[in-house]
Amino acid sequence: MFTVNENYLKLPGSYLFSTVGKKEREYRAANPDKKVIKLSIGDVTQPIAPAIIEAMHKAVDEMGTAEGFHGYAPDLGYEFLRSAIAKSDYKARGVDIDIDEIFVSDGAKSDSANIQEILGPDNIIAVGDPVYPVYVDSNAMAGRTGEYDSASGMWNKVIYMPCLEENGFAPKLPEKTPDVIYLCFPNNPTGATITKDELQKWVDYANEKKALIIYDAAYEAYISEENVAHTIYECDGAKTCAIELKSFSKNAGFTGVRLGYTVVPKELKSGDVALNPLWARRHGTKYNGAPYIIQRAGEAVYSEAGKAELKKQVAYYMNNAKVIKEGLASAGYSVSGGVNAPYIWLKTLNGMTSWEFFDYLLNEVSVVGTPGSGFGPSGEGYFRLTAFGTYENTVEAIDRLKKLI
Ligand code: MLT
Repeated sequence: MFTVNENYLKLPGSYLFSTVGKKEREYRAANPDKKVIKLSIGDVTQPIAPAIIEAMHKAVDEMGTAEGFHGYAPDLGYEFLRSAIAKSDYKARGVDIDIDEIFVSDGAKSDSANIQEILGPDNIIAVGDPVYPVYVDSNAMAGRTGEYDSASGMWNKVIYMPCLEENGFAPKLPEKTPDVIYLCFPNNPTGATITKDELQKWVDYANEKKALIIYDAAYEAYISEENVAHTIYECDGAKTCAIELKSFSKNAGFTGVRLGYTVVPKELKSGDVALNPLWARRHGTKYNGAPYIIQRAGEAVYSEAGKAELKKQVAYYMNNAKVIKEGLASAGYSVSGGVNAPYIWLKTLNGMTSWEFFDYLLNEVSVVGTPGSGFGPSGEGYFRLTAFGTYENTVEAIDRLKKLI
């Protein structure tokens, strides 16, 4: 008889955004007359920028010609895209990343889940709490997280680093030493970030403890403050301790297009074993590459026209973040985030749990958000709103929330 991966049986409930989506669909079905505003999953609403659409059209036409047809993509991604990434995301910030250290993929979500495959099964992981659930769930599926305790909402082999109001919703260096540390700045879900000097402390700590940092920089385009690193490799010594994950979803609206990349520096080693060839091996064996058309779209993100158009798109969403943050704060809500990130983190009203507040907002004002506790136990009593809605819907949602206080 075949058996199943029993680690899956230990997972609590369903994936956070699947649960939120199901509740939203049920509410819509029961209330067809209500205008529901969705500020839950961080999914973009603005159309793909013209320079990118043009590049995609061109690539589609090429595929219909004998000379321009492209089959399987190279394992690591097309050189034209990896060169554009190396130049614009790294060299322009004074960081040298070789194109062989860049692995193009279908997005940061899958990379953040898959990267643990090249790590030993006994590694102890440390995560911020609250945290993007994929990091923990993917390690749970691999059997690395021990047992789940439903009372505390914690896995007994995971080191949780609470991100609370008193520490600016950013984790402190853990007391117990982890093998792998997941960091996400600007942070999903709290919208908080740390300065480059603070990030340097994590890099120094990881090098000292021989730990690996998996650095999720998916929201880098939303950094507005000067003293925040745009890549972890701005910190000295990061190449010997950090892998960086990047996404085209949030800066270029590729949530439905799918494109991302991961940087695994050649200097990064566990003892004598370099991680770069391991990830290359995994990539080559399990993945046939993002489509040519999509990689050409990614290249256009770095064109002069693409950059200018995307700057406006990011500004549009950050204006929504301002509308949410200032609107809620003026009404008396306790809010944070939204300055270097498209997420606003707020306290629920009247001591409600996160899920109670979710139901309350849905039933009273037909607004969908994401319950903080879905991201981890320290998120209990908090709620996340995304700035990725349309401006009009964002203004309307905030007007509705203001009336509740
Ligand atoms: C989120 O809402 O946290 C993100 O959009 C989910 C994701 O990027 O996978």
